[in-house]
Amino acid sequence: MKKLEGKVALITGAAVGLGEGISTVYANYGAKLIMVDLDPNVEKTAERLRKEYNAEIITVVANVAHKEEMIAAVKKGIEAFGEINVACCNAGVCRLAPFEEFTDEMRDFHIDVNIKGVWNTCQAVIPEMLKEGKGSIVIASSVTGDIVADAGEAAYAMTKAALVGLTKCLAVEYANRNIRVNCSQLGYARTPMVEKMAVESNPEDPESAIQSIAVGVPMKRLAKPTEVGELFAFLGSDESSYLTGSQVVIDGGSTLPETMSIGTN
Ligand SMILES: NC(=O)c1ccc[n+]([C@@H]2O[C@H](COP(=O)([O-])OP(=O)(O)OC[C@H]3O[C@@H](n4cnc5c(N)ncnc54)[C@H](O)[C@@H]3O)[C@@H](O)[C@H]2O)c1
Repeated sequence: MKKLEGKVALITGAAVGLGEGISTVYANYGAKLIMVDLDPNVEKTAERLRKEYNAEIITVVANVAHKEEMIAAVKKGIEAFGEINVACCNAGVCRLAPFEEFTDEMRDFHIDVNIKGVWNTCQAVIPEMLKEGKGSIVIASSVTGDIVADAGEAAYAMTKAALVGLTKCLAVEYANRNIRVNCSQLGYARTPMVEKMAVESNPEDPESAIQSIAVGVPMKRLAKPTEVGELFAFLGSDESSYLTGSQVVIDGGSTLPETMSIGTN
């Protein structure tokens, strides 16, 4: 029996990047999927996964920042599969700007998608999980905000750190009702988001910005989206049945070095 066979998972931000990686791993492990994204191309990603893994998938074009759209997405998922056991709250945005130049609109954009988007997804799925008497929620936080930060990331860092608080509160609130809530704290994976950040950091040579990230990681590379998908699969599956409220760092060791100059290598 495959790790996620018999599970129905709703994954937000599923069209590209980590959401595509998570969806790929979930399809490979036998889950039925509700792939949600703002971008209608989510259907193309789903079509690839149906062909490659013979997976049962529906797609929903929805904005996580709008609660009514997430409630409608969950309704479609229930109509298709009868239950939702796992929610991967992955959709998120990141824009860089010096703090003095950060507009209120750009700040609110991060709050709306990164914080309210996860809040809305959880409020939409939890009633269904309560009906089934079980569930697992995996929230995409980040090492950024809670552990480290770079200049220009004020809105992103603030919102990703907030998700740690949400994870812990929901974990304790639903622990006795068999719904587990954990979050991932990823360093860097190469996705459209990171490629956009590289352009904002070094418009003349974005590739060098990406290569410089790898140099600072003890494992000397960025994560592959499917490596992050494996963590989401573990947290979504019964293998992690005693984990709740955890913050799992997945960063190739990037937050470990104490200095860039002391040591034997
Ligand atoms: N890539 C990294 O290195 C990294 C590191 C730490 C955390 N994360 C987190 O992982 C998540 C995914 O990141 P990514 O790099 O794959 O991003 P990405 O920008 O490459 O892809 C994000 C996907 O989410 C969708 N999306 C964006 N806003 C949405 C909305 N309002 N409603 C529905 N869908 C929406 C986009 O259309 C896209 O398909 C984010 O929450 C991000 O903060 C990423």
